[in-house]
Amino acid sequence: MIAKHIQEMINSKGASVIRKMFEEGIVLKKEHGEENVFDFTLGNPDLDPPQKVVAAIQEEAKDISHGCHGYMPNAGYPFVREAIAQKITKEQGLSVKGENVIMTVGAASALNCVFKSLLNPGNEVLVPMPFFAEYRHYARNHGGSLIEIPSKADFSLDLQAIKAKLSSKTAAVLINNPNNPSGKIYSESDIKELATILSEHNKKTGRITYLVCDEPYRAIVYDGAKVAPAFQFYENTVIVSSFAKDLSLPGERIGYIAVNPKSDAPEEFIKAVTFALRVLGCVNAPAFFQKVIAKSWDAQVDYSSYKIRRDKLMAILDKCGIEYYRPQGAFYLFCKVPSRFSGDDGDFCDYLKKYLILAAPGSGFGGKGWFRLAYCVSEKTIINSEKAFSKAMEELK
Ligand SMILES: Cc1ncc(COP(=O)(O)O)c(C=O)c1O
Repeated sequence: MIAKHIQEMINSKGASVIRKMFEEGIVLKKEHGEENVFDFTLGNPDLDPPQKVVAAIQEEAKDISHGCHGYMPNAGYPFVREAIAQKITKEQGLSVKGENVIMTVGAASALNCVFKSLLNPGNEVLVPMPFFAEYRHYARNHGGSLIEIPSKADFSLDLQAIKAKLSSKTAAVLINNPNNPSGKIYSESDIKELATILSEHNKKTGRITYLVCDEPYRAIVYDGAKVAPAFQFYENTVIVSSFAKDLSLPGERIGYIAVNPKSDAPEEFIKAVTFALRVLGCVNAPAFFQKVIAKSWDAQVDYSSYKIRRDKLMAILDKCGIEYYRPQGAFYLFCKVPSRFSGDDGDFCDYLKKYLILAAPGSGFGGKGWFRLAYCVSEKTIINSEKAFSKAMEELK
C-alpha cells in the first residue's frame, strides 16, 4: 500500500499542479496544434545550450578510455570540483577550493542533500514567500517542515517577520535569488541585515542556523542587476545551484553544493552532504556531464533574448490590464489574478485554459491570488498569445 503522506501529496492540488498543467498542455497541443496552445507553465529554457557546451559534449563523447564511465568519489571528480570552485570564487569574491564543492544531480538533489544533512525530526526551514513549489516536499522528505514567511509588497524580504519566526527548531533559512516565481533579486543590504539577524540568533541559541542560497538563476539578470555574494556576509552560508537554467541543461541533471570555507566545521558539512548524496541513491553526479561542465561552466551566454521576451509579454499584459511584478532576473512573470476571481488563482488558470493559455496558479508557490507565466518559451508563442490574452480579458468585462 502506498504510504499515507505520499498518497496525500499525489492527490493534493498544490505543488503538482504545474506538472499536471504541463501534461494537459501536451494533450491540448495534440488536439489544437502546437502553435495554438500558449504554454507558460514550465521553466524549461527555450535557448539552446551555448556552443562551448556543445563543443565540450562532442569532445567528451570521443573519450572511450578504460574506466571513463566508472564510479568516482561520491562528491565528484576532483578536477571538476576545482573548476566549480573557480566559478564560486569569481561569484563570491572569496577564495573557495575544490574540497568545498560537491557535485550533485541538479539543484533539486543539492537541496535534498542539504536538508537531509541538517534536519532533525521537527526542525524547520524558513522561506520567504513566494518560493519554488518543490521546497515544501524537500523539507518534508527529511522530517522537517517549511515555514512560509510573507514578504513585503514588493517581494523584498520582511526581515522582522523572518526574525520573529527564528527559534531553536530553525535549521536553515532558504532564499532563492533571483526568485522563482517573482523574478525578485534580494538586495545586498537585505542579505547583510539577514546575516546580522542570523548571527545574533546563533549567539543566543548556541545553534548554527544555515543560510541556504538557491541560485540556479544567478546569471539570468536584467538591466545590470547583480546577485549579492552571500559568502562575504554570513559565514554559515551554503550555495546550491545547477546548470539547468543558465546553460539550458535541465534534463542533464548537473548541479552542485558549495560550502563557505569560513563556516563552522565545513569538513563535517561536506562529509554529511556527500553521505546524503550517496544514501539518497544519487551516488554521484552524472560522470559525463561533470566532465562537460568542467570545460564549459564559463561559457558566455547572451540572455538578451529573455529580456526581449520579458518585455514583449509585459507589453501584452499591460495592454490587457493584467498587473504583474516587474522581474529583475530569472524568466518568470508573477501576475495578479483579476479581481473578478476573488483571488482564486486555480479558477483563473482554469479560465485561461479555455483560451488555450496555460499558466501556473500562485498558491503552489505560496502566492495565493497570483499566477506565474514562464516566458522561457519561443518569442513566437509570446507574440501569438496576445490575441488569446486579449480575448480572455475582454470577456471578463
Ligand atoms: C528555484 C529553483 N530551485 C531549484 C530548482 C531545481 O533545479 P534543477 O533542475 O537543477 O534540479 C528549480 C527548477 O526549476 C528552481 O526553479
